[in-house]
Amino acid sequence: MKKYAEITGWGKCLPPAKLTNDDLATFLDTSDEWIRTRTGIEERRVSAVGTSKMAVVAARNALAAAGLDAEELDLILVGTCTPDEIIPNVASAVQRDLGNKTAAAFDLNAACSSFLYGLHYATQAIRTGAHKKVLVIGAERLTRILDWTKRESAVLFGDGAGAMILEASDVESGLLASHVTCDAEARDVLSLEFGMSFDRFGFDGIMPFNFIGQEIFKRAVKGMNTAVERVFAETGLTTDDIDSLIPHQANKRLIDYLAKMCNVPEEKTVINIQKYGNTSSATLPIAFCEAVEQGIVKPGDTIVSAVFGGGLTCGAGIIKWGQRVTPIRDNTETLPDTGETALDLILPLYQGTKAAWEKRGDE
Ligand code: ACO
Repeated sequence: MKKYAEITGWGKCLPPAKLTNDDLATFLDTSDEWIRTRTGIEERRVSAVGTSKMAVVAARNALAAAGLDAEELDLILVGTCTPDEIIPNVASAVQRDLGNKTAAAFDLNAACSSFLYGLHYATQAIRTGAHKKVLVIGAERLTRILDWTKRESAVLFGDGAGAMILEASDVESGLLASHVTCDAEARDVLSLEFGMSFDRFGFDGIMPFNFIGQEIFKRAVKGMNTAVERVFAETGLTTDDIDSLIPHQANKRLIDYLAKMCNVPEEKTVINIQKYGNTSSATLPIAFCEAVEQGIVKPGDTIVSAVFGGGLTCGAGIIKWGQRVTPIRDNTETLPDTGETALDLILPLYQGTKAAWEKRGDE
């Protein structure tokens, strides 16, 4: 039995349409200054296609980086809270579009923590011998579920996908330690009330997105703190052993806090929130991809990661990168540009939701 799950491939997919803070200020009572200083976000991407299409592009790029063919995969695991459909899952669309006929394929929803949850369980599956070559994806089309009339949450999120290939290995690499947990007492501070308990016959077009930012912030700090301490204790590593920090990107102030706690300087902390906002489960694999592409991650590096999200789920991991930081085949496939601007895609959602709130009369 192989002891490790080495990361041998990495890929991302960022939709081409960019929604800037100034674009948001054309229809919301907000400003570039407020968003930039409170969150660190400057722009985010808006997808014209569904979650599974972005997931497939990220997956193809990860397979190319690993030099694998899709048929070799025996598990496809997609972290998402924005599936195209409830049934069938996104993972089956990925399997079909990649041309794989035999892998197990399922989705996992731990909101923004889904990718780290996925890495955690995929690594365990490889260690037990249950699977050998696993594709883990984080993919989200959050712009479809937001209430675009609510400035406190609408400015924070964006679309995208990222993926990694894990392969059984004897070389010490991959997720060396991880801790995933959930602070369910606070599950209502972040919720989208649109599921099977929803009254579909009374549906008036409003999908209530509850978001209590300060409470999430406070609990995220506490949860990530505990999770990071646990993975350090488990490995016996200290902050001196860490080469870089690749955290969830929900708020620049939270990233700064984590960097201080892990004693990692700014130049070794991966920050891309300014370009993409919070892409939920896609955040971590996109950040890893860019860290490798930009040379921040070097062969054999030790990386600490921490995440949190709706649930409130939370987790941390210590990852040892392998010896290869260059893709085996070209991994720069992108989505075709449909020519639609981000405002073309968002304004109908904003106008429809605004009209629905006005009709309900309780905005
Ligand atoms: N533009 C302008 N003003 C705004 C905006 C906006 N977009 N949003 C809120 N404000 C106003 C508020 O109305 C408030 O005004 P008031 O003082 O007159 O009442 C003021 O700005 C301050 O609002 P706060 O909520 O106190 O601002 P805060 O500094 O806490 O920042 C934020 C809010 C950015 C949401 C922060 O709390 C945060 O990042 N929380 C964590 C969120 C998060 O990380 N979520 C991740 C999980 S997501 C998932 O799992 C899918």
